[in-house]
Amino acid sequence: MSFVFNTTKSIINAPNASSELGLYCQTLNIKNVLLVTDPGIVKLGLHQKMIASLENSAINYVLFSDVEVDPPTEVIENALAFAKNNNIDGVIGLGGGSSLDTAKLIAALTHSKQTLNDVFGIDKLENSRLPLIQIPTTAGTGSEVTPISIVTTGEAMKMGIVSSVLLPDIALLDATLTVKLPPHITAATGIDAMVHAIEAYTSKIKKNIYSDMLAVQALKLMANNIQTAVHQGEDLTARSNMMLGATLAGQAFANAPVAAVHALAYPLGGHYHIPHGLSNSLVLPHVLKFNMSSAAHLYAELADVIIPEDCANLGSDNEKAQAFIQHLEYLIADIGLPNRLASVEVNEDALPMLAKDAMKQERLLINNPRPMNEADILAIYQAAY
Ligand SMILES: NC(=O)c1ccc[n+]([C@@H]2O[C@H](COP(=O)([O-])OP(=O)(O)OC[C@H]3O[C@@H](n4cnc5c(N)ncnc54)[C@H](O)[C@@H]3O)[C@@H](O)[C@H]2O)c1
Ligand SMILES: [Fe+2]
Repeated sequence: MSFVFNTTKSIINAPNASSELGLYCQTLNIKNVLLVTDPGIVKLGLHQKMIASLENSAINYVLFSDVEVDPPTEVIENALAFAKNNNIDGVIGLGGGSSLDTAKLIAALTHSKQTLNDVFGIDKLENSRLPLIQIPTTAGTGSEVTPISIVTTGEAMKMGIVSSVLLPDIALLDATLTVKLPPHITAATGIDAMVHAIEAYTSKIKKNIYSDMLAVQALKLMANNIQTAVHQGEDLTARSNMMLGATLAGQAFANAPVAAVHALAYPLGGHYHIPHGLSNSLVLPHVLKFNMSSAAHLYAELADVIIPEDCANLGSDNEKAQAFIQHLEYLIADIGLPNRLASVEVNEDALPMLAKDAMKQERLLINNPRPMNEADILAIYQAAY
């Protein structure tokens, strides 16, 4: 069994860990840091305890808080210009995947001759990066442990920058930052993270023993806690379990990449600005049903993990796999996410165009347990409509 497994060097998981941010900056020898975040985080004041900690440790900081959801190229360019104008020697990403992905690119490009356009694709970054600490405020993307940044290019395309250079130095997991996350964002980002675990576990080419262990633990934590996190957001135990689960799932899919659920979700995000997690959720059961003929045994293994009592009464892999998909449908409904493309105002006439677009996600489709062509994708969108 040959494989490569890379991850963030240091993962610190403790409620209120971000109150010690200054000390963590010192371990990386950071003296002038750029804090990258979005206006929603600033409005909530989530950055305040980190700024207090930086001040206590006599670390200079500048704030860039103009990150937009699904950051377009202009946002990255603006953040980069800001970083270049300030004499920084380290970067902190604070927020959901949008802020963390932006922070990664700033750390990689601030002292580089390469531009953003030079680095789209796989392994294009030529230089090392500035020290980088990532503090997620959603339990979702796992960006704090992935070598990936996703940028919205042009009107509707999402493109990835993938390079081990983007793996941060420190992931700081402070679940207290997520207790105010609204239910609909908790639900969507949580399903995104669960999909990371599911797709890593069934990833066709790079699935390995580490990614399997991480995916199983991630899915167990999140399947058992997503409902409480959505319905009783102040429950710190549920929030901590979701945050840890999302990071474990991130470690899994960073090494055993996601597949068709994500490939079909991206065009929905690009054309209709449907949040990433909700796009995933809308197509999830339908992609899994399509995959049954190739992956039922793997879904059955995951069923044993998240619904062991139900599985005790079921015999075949097929029965368990079907129960697995039904349980996911139940969770999606319980946490209040819509389950039809029609109910998020996707135009039925647009489905062929979306299918054509999804075919461009070759990087992801090659990881799907069952090969998928354009007609298959269209049929899945129609089933999800
Ligand atoms: N790098 C990766 O490996 C990777 C993987 C999957 C997705 N992504 C990308 O990540 C982005 C999505 O990230 P996301 O889903 O985490 O959301 P996000 O960063 O886009 O944020 C969504 C909204 O949630 C708000 N928010 C975040 N934390 C909050 C909190 N604690 N309390 C209240 N509001 C809060 C933000 O202000 C924002 O308005 C997309 O661009 C997606 O393509 C990256
Ligand atoms: Fe995702």
